[in-house]
Amino acid sequence: MTVAFHTFGCRLNQSESDALGSGFTAAGYTIVNAEIPADLCVINTCSVTASAEADCRRLIRKILRKKPDTFLAVTGCYAQVDVAALRKIPGIDLIAGANHKMLLPSLIQHGASKNLAKLSEPLVFHSPKISKEDFTMPVATVFNHQTRPNIKIQDGCDFFCSFCIIPYTRGRERSRKFDDILLEANLWAAQGHKEIVLTGVNLGAYADRGQGLADLIKALESIEGLARIRISSIEPTTVPSQLLDCMGKTKLCPHLHLPLQSGSNAILSNMGRRYTQEAYSAFVNEAMNKVPNLSLGTDVMVGFPGEGEAEFSETVSLIESLPFSYLHVFPFSERKGTRLTRMGLQHVPLSTIRKRSQVLHDLSKKKRDAFYNASIGKWLDVLFENNSEAGFYAGYTSQFIRVGVSSTNNLSGQLLSVLITGVAAGSQGTLPMAVGVLS
Ligand code: F3S
Repeated sequence: MTVAFHTFGCRLNQSESDALGSGFTAAGYTIVNAEIPADLCVINTCSVTASAEADCRRLIRKILRKKPDTFLAVTGCYAQVDVAALRKIPGIDLIAGANHKMLLPSLIQHGASKNLAKLSEPLVFHSPKISKEDFTMPVATVFNHQTRPNIKIQDGCDFFCSFCIIPYTRGRERSRKFDDILLEANLWAAQGHKEIVLTGVNLGAYADRGQGLADLIKALESIEGLARIRISSIEPTTVPSQLLDCMGKTKLCPHLHLPLQSGSNAILSNMGRRYTQEAYSAFVNEAMNKVPNLSLGTDVMVGFPGEGEAEFSETVSLIESLPFSYLHVFPFSERKGTRLTRMGLQHVPLSTIRKRSQVLHDLSKKKRDAFYNASIGKWLDVLFENNSEAGFYAGYTSQFIRVGVSSTNNLSGQLLSVLITGVAAGSQGTLPMAVGVLS
C-alpha cells in the first residue's frame, strides 16, 4: 500500500505529517511523493483563513478527479472546525479531528477501512472538546528528505486573540514531554541532521514539570552532531530572557520571528494582543542589544476591522523604525466563531486591503534587500538543503539568509563556510538570494 501526504498551513502541521508518516511506515505503507497517485491520500488541512480552507477543498476535489479510487483521509485544523463543510464533498472516506489526528494510522489499520475500499459515507472521528493533556507523540524519523526537521514541542493556545481560529482548531495550551522531545532530536541528529526547528502554536508557553523553553534548549544544546537549534514564531511577550542571553552565542540561531500584527495600539487592543507598540519596540531594542547579528522577522495583518488610514500609517511608521529583515503580510480573514465576529467593527474594503498589502510587501522587500546586502563580503556558515538543481545548491545561514552557490560536489546536508559575493534579485515573486563562493 502507498500513502501520499498533502500538508497545508504551518510548520506544526508539517511536523505532524512527518510523525504520521512514521506511523504509516511502521504499519507497512510506503510513502510516495504527493504528486504520485497513492492508495491512501492524507490531507492535513489548515483553517487559518477562508482562502486556506478553499485551497484545501480545491485540492481534495482535484485528487478525487484524478484518482477517484484513492482512499481519502482528511485531518488537521479544517477537519476540527468544519466537519459539515467536508461532509458536503462526496468522495472523502475519513475525517479525523484534532484528538484523532495522530491516531490516523491505527484508525485506518484497525478500523472498518483497513482494506482501503472506498466508502459511501465518510467515517468521522471527531470530538468538539480537544484534549488538555500534555502529550508524547510518535517520533518522526522517516522523512529524512528534510534538511531542517521541525520538531513539535507544544500545541494549542490560551491567548484567544479576537481574530484567531487556532484555539478552536487546536485547543488549549499543552506541551510535549521533555524526554520525548530529546529522544526525537537525538534521533534526527544521529541521522546526520545538523539543524532542528522547534515548533508549536505558542512556543513560549512550553512547560513540562517546571521546565520551560529555555531549559529545553539548554538540554538540546548538548546533543552531539546537532549544530543549530532554531525556534519558529514566538509571541513577543513570551520570550524567556535566558534565550536572548544565549542566542547567537550557542547553537541557538540568532533569528526571532516575532508576530507584530499591527503598529496601532487601538488595533492591538481590539485584536486582544498582549502588548502595545511601545512595549514591542522596547523588546526589539533589548533583543537587538543582547543578540549579535539578530535576524528579526514578523507577521503583519492588513485590514483588521476598524483599521483606518491613521492606524495603517502607524503600522507602516513602526515597521520602518524597527530593524526587521523580512515581513510576512496577511490580509485579514474573518473566522466564524471567533470573538471578533461579535465586536461589531467596521470592515475594511478588499480594494483597500490590497493596496495596503502592496505597501507592506514593498516595505518588506526594501528591508530584506538591505539585510541581504549587508551580508556581502562576509563569510557565513550555510547549511545546504537536499534539493539541488544542476550543480546549484541553496541553503540557509543561521540568520535565515538564503544563499546559493554553484558546485560540482554534492553539498546536500553539509554545513559549509561561504563568502557572500552578491545578491541576486528575486524574479516573478521569488525571494532574493545571496550568492557566494565556498572557501
Ligand atoms: Fe493553519 Fe492550523 Fe497551523 S489553522 S496555520 S494548520 S495551526
